[in-house]
Amino acid sequence: MPPYSEKVMDHFMHPRNVGEIPDADGVGQVGNPVCGDIMKMYIKVKDKIITDVKFQTFGCGAAIATSSMATEMIKGKTIDEALVLTNKAVAEALGGLPAVKMHCSVLAEEAVQAAINDYLIKTTGKGLPGFKPSEEPLEKHDH
Ligand code: FES
Repeated sequence: MPPYSEKVMDHFMHPRNVGEIPDADGVGQVGNPVCGDIMKMYIKVKDKIITDVKFQTFGCGAAIATSSMATEMIKGKTIDEALVLTNKAVAEALGGLPAVKMHCSVLAEEAVQAAINDYLIKTTGKGLPGFKPSEEPLEKHDH
């Protein structure tokens, strides 16, 4: 097993915001092109603020830890602030991830974007420009 920071272990052992929001304002599901794992993210939005967020994942420990941290980082933020959250920032907040596990953190970043995209489509009829909503594994890109 690669070495994990204490924060990663903490969020893996005690993940925050796990579950489902039945009356979510936006739901995003993404797949990881590297390992095929899946993540689902639910958000509640009021006045452009993310008031609640929960996730479910079939991903590994690193995916659980990064999603847990990502949900903590976007809760109470505006959707614009949440959209610029990168997987690198989440990994840094966790004290770093082993290089072979960085791809897992992409799930959290993309699930946040997918949930916001869904929220925007539902409320404005228009999603994020250039965002490809997909339940299929996404194309590989550098992160
Ligand atoms: Fe698939 Fe980590 S190995 S999310």
